Amino acid sequence: MSEFKDKRVLITGGSRGIGLGLARFFVDRQARVAICGRKETNLNQAREALGGNVLTVPAHLGKPEDVEQLFKTVQQEFGALEILVNNMGMNIFTPATVEAEVALWDKIMDSNLRATFLVCRQAFPLMKNGGGVIVNVSSTAGLRAAPGMGIYGIAKAGINMLTRVLARELAAYGIRVNAVAPGMVETDFSKPFWGNEDILKELLKGIPLGRIARVEDVVQAVSFLASGQSAYLTGEILSLSGGSEA
Ligand SMILES: NC(=O)c1ccc[n+]([C@@H]2O[C@H](COP(=O)([O-])OP(=O)(O)OC[C@H]3O[C@@H](n4cnc5c(N)ncnc54)[C@H](OP(=O)(O)O)[C@@H]3O)[C@@H](O)[C@H]2O)c1
Repeated sequence: MSEFKDKRVLITGGSRGIGLGLARFFVDRQARVAICGRKETNLNQAREALGGNVLTVPAHLGKPEDVEQLFKTVQQEFGALEILVNNMGMNIFTPATVEAEVALWDKIMDSNLRATFLVCRQAFPLMKNGGGVIVNVSSTAGLRAAPGMGIYGIAKAGINMLTRVLARELAAYGIRVNAVAPGMVETDFSKPFWGNEDILKELLKGIPLGRIARVEDVVQAVSFLASGQSAYLTGEILSLSGGSEA
């Protein structure tokens, strides 16, 4: 029997890409899964793809009131949470940092770093009695400066530190907090990079394993961090970069 059977799992941004792959992983193992995203059409398609076995909640995580509403629904339906995957992320492309509008900086910070903080803050009361696991989906852009991804990378670096801080603060509640930091992954999000033959060729020069990551690679890493196999790991940022320096 799967160790995830009947576990209550929330995956933010679970309607497409990596999040949908994660939702499929946990649904296949008979977990009780909730996903959120901004667009109902994406959520409906995901629900259909997952055979209806998922709670879908429309929520824009850049908006605190949506995060609050998301957790009202999760609490009503699940009562508590054992696994939270902060997968949602947006705005990978950023202009040169010193030329960025303040509004863009705020939007990227709010939708990535603040959103992760808000979700963790709301998840804590649902986890503190029974313990649990939080896995944040960060990026190698948060570990090293990447061209064209400056402010996004700064937000992801903030998520890495949030991971370490929460790992310390929540250990006493039996809550482990870790992150995965993938390099380029084959989803729509980064298609403008890997979908361009010249950029892809350049990228592959720096990846010893000779390919960019697949959704499945990230799913395997997240599932390890969510499982009992990583019971003594907390506060770690697992770089998933195919061997490129991180
Ligand atoms: N793909 C890569 O190369 C790569 C590499 C490293 C790290 N990552 C990280 O991996 C995570 C997932 O990326 P992905 O490639 O799977 O992205 P994706 O294919 O663009 O999917 C993003 C998911 O998040 C939802 N979403 C986007 N903005 C949201 C918001 N403000 N509030 C709520 N939901 C929102 C989307 O649904 P709606 O559009 O309906 O809202 C969708 O379900 C992100 O944190 C990203 O930074 C990706």
